[in-house]
Amino acid sequence: MEDLIQHIRNTPKAELHLHIEGTLEPEMLFDLAARNQVSIPYPSIASLRKAYQFNCLQDFLDLYYAGASVLLTEQDFFDLTWAYFLRCKENNIVHTEIMFDPQTHTERGVSFETVISGIQKARERAEKEMGISSFLIMSYLRHLSEDDAMRTLEASLPYKQYIKAVGLDSSERDNPPSKFERVFNASAKEGYILLAHAGEEGPAEYIWEALQKLHVSRIDHGNNCLSDPTLVQYLTEQDIPLTVCPLSNVALAVVKDISEHPIKKMLKLGLRVTVNSDDPAYFGGYLNDNFIAITEALQLTKSEIDKLIENGFKYSLH
Ligand code: HPA
Ligand code: ZN
Repeated sequence: MEDLIQHIRNTPKAELHLHIEGTLEPEMLFDLAARNQVSIPYPSIASLRKAYQFNCLQDFLDLYYAGASVLLTEQDFFDLTWAYFLRCKENNIVHTEIMFDPQTHTERGVSFETVISGIQKARERAEKEMGISSFLIMSYLRHLSEDDAMRTLEASLPYKQYIKAVGLDSSERDNPPSKFERVFNASAKEGYILLAHAGEEGPAEYIWEALQKLHVSRIDHGNNCLSDPTLVQYLTEQDIPLTVCPLSNVALAVVKDISEHPIKKMLKLGLRVTVNSDDPAYFGGYLNDNFIAITEALQLTKSEIDKLIENGFKYSLH
């Protein structure tokens, strides 16, 4: 087992599902709160960490949006993103596809430009100083209206050269992909690649909708495809990847226990699965921790680990 863990640590990897707001560690949250004079309803870092116990996606999202309220300036977004790139180096991640949620910030009066400028400066420095390549994925918040997403698309246009793809995240239940058909169409016309979270808490039907109504080329999470054999067959035949997030799934009770995580089964079914950390500051670990957790709990073989790592590069955006 030690050999496999060393192998995971030593092998260069790609990460395809990572929310930059979800890398905000409690220590930085407290530092930024002090720097920006934002008050937070927790007396200490330890008490905040203690609150990171979730029964479902919404429990987490409530804290995640509250946490993001300390991010105000370009420097804040730079510091956040740079700290993640340092984690990439530690984890031997050489390519990463970073999601950001502009609406989480524009809703609070922080401009699109402030957000993207800070992130972009960190990306350029990481490429230059550490040789880490990255793409940016602008995610629409599905609990808000399609008109709101449309305004976000418009706000992104001056920064189009920095953004590779659009995604769809936030509260999945009762917010089906079909709600965003027009804005995904318009995003494609602007040249953005299309992705969406689907089948994390939502049914297999939402994965079908993301594929057939939004025309996405990659599904974030996608766990619930397993309830629909026709969908599993379609995903494999069409070579559509799933960005699976093991520790996230356990933290949000999508999966009861890591020992019951379906990723090994998904590999055996021929699904194109990758391993990712989602919101590592909230879910107890970065990319290597995710690989190690499934390797230990599911007794993955070296060739299964290698397949998962290889898929990360093969299904990265080009
Ligand atoms: N699901 C949906 N929305 C999110 C997530 C997630 O795992 N992380 C951050 N926003
Ligand atoms: Zn996610």
